[in-house]
Amino acid sequence: MEKLTMEKIVNICKQYGFIFQGSEIYDGLANTWDYGPLGSRLKNNIKDLWRKRFVAERENSYELDAAILMNPEVWVASGHVASFADPLIDCKDCKTRHRADKLVEEFTNGAETGDGWDNEKLENYIKDNKIPCPKCGSNNFTTIRKFNLLFETHMGVTEDSKSKVYLRGETAQGIFVNFLNVQRSMRAKIPFGIAQIGKAFRNEITPGNFIFRTREFEQMEYEFFCKPGTDMEWFKFYEEYCMKFLTDLGINKDNLRLRKHKPEELVFYSKGTTDIEYNYPNGFGELWGIADRTDYDLTVHSNHSGKELKYLDPDTNEKYTPYVIEPSVGCDRLLLAILCDSYDEEILEDGTTREVMHFIPALAPYKVAVLPLMKKYHQEKAMDIYHKLSKSFMCTYDEAGNIGKRYRRQDVIGTPFCITIDEETLNNGTVTVRDRDTMKQKTIKIDNLEEYISDRIKF
Ligand code: GAP
Repeated sequence: MEKLTMEKIVNICKQYGFIFQGSEIYDGLANTWDYGPLGSRLKNNIKDLWRKRFVAERENSYELDAAILMNPEVWVASGHVASFADPLIDCKDCKTRHRADKLVEEFTNGAETGDGWDNEKLENYIKDNKIPCPKCGSNNFTTIRKFNLLFETHMGVTEDSKSKVYLRGETAQGIFVNFLNVQRSMRAKIPFGIAQIGKAFRNEITPGNFIFRTREFEQMEYEFFCKPGTDMEWFKFYEEYCMKFLTDLGINKDNLRLRKHKPEELVFYSKGTTDIEYNYPNGFGELWGIADRTDYDLTVHSNHSGKELKYLDPDTNEKYTPYVIEPSVGCDRLLLAILCDSYDEEILEDGTTREVMHFIPALAPYKVAVLPLMKKYHQEKAMDIYHKLSKSFMCTYDEAGNIGKRYRRQDVIGTPFCITIDEETLNNGTVTVRDRDTMKQKTIKIDNLEEYISDRIKF
């Protein structure tokens, strides 16, 4: 297959109902995207598997669904109001706006990320290396200003400074402010984790690359509270745990790499951060951030709110502020990685090309497609089987066009099993089950179908 481009993925997503441009009939709203019938299924499946790994299969793990709107003091205490900002630079000639650190990163092909550099260092680097404006090529930039990424809105009927609230910039803060609620109500013992899936909002200076960087996106965050001194051990554990989750999702490990942040790149709350990067069509980019947030968040919230946020060990009577290991992944970025990794164009023996999404079955939007060989004779039985299987799996039904074309339609949306209903079904109670990846067919008794599929879609 030729190298996959982002444009190709965007087109496939639109054509087959994964992702559409937001507000399309009004000419769109820049960098907003709507998940269609297949995209929302895929996204839900990703969330379900993450939940399975990070909540169900972990001991002492609890899920939370906190409000998006929080008391603005949360964001003052967390440091986001003062420090959650990107360095904004304008090209004086073509008037385009850029993130100064991204100009450095792109110019050096990622050798320098510019993360954590102060404005002076960034300005000097851009000047000394004559980094050109990506739009017009000139090197005539303004000075750098800090641009805060928090989205502001107003709550209630007045729009004065007192009513100002922020859309959450990360889901993590909802977890920190509920640390004691969860710990006490669940009688949780350290170490334990709190998981949350939800929308986050950032007024990004340069959103783009499809759903890679948007202003509204979804995070799957896990805050793991542990005893100080054990944090590095858990950090290592979660690096491996997250990497394994990604390869279990079917992502090729050659397309994944770990990138440890240099000390000067670390964000204000972190003692150590490793990113898992994925090789997107435009190159490696951050997919998952794993950070050692220490006791930073619980301490600042405790100081700012005046409420003690400490853990009392019931066995030793020791009281302390736990440390936090945070694996935080963007659901949309993960979905993009899965789409890019699963798509293939295969040349078949007859010289034709088949487009196929090799999703692992647990991720596939539809697990099964039920296809009557001939509508006239097999429709009724096929509908019977479709209704029966639909009680257990997401199924689709297709009776339009020849069977080969129907298989292709299912291949490109990643349906792992196609079930064909034919004369044998009517006479012997069997169906043929075609496997998407091998394209081989098997005869299965209707009575065994559910078990056959269940066994193959497990995660
Ligand atoms: N609580 C820590 C935190 O929010 P982050 O590295 O800023 O850390 C975590 O974000 C993850 O959220 C990233 O690794 C990425 O997958 C996703 N993410 C961040 N900003 C995003 C954006 N503008 N669009 C889409 N996903 C984003």
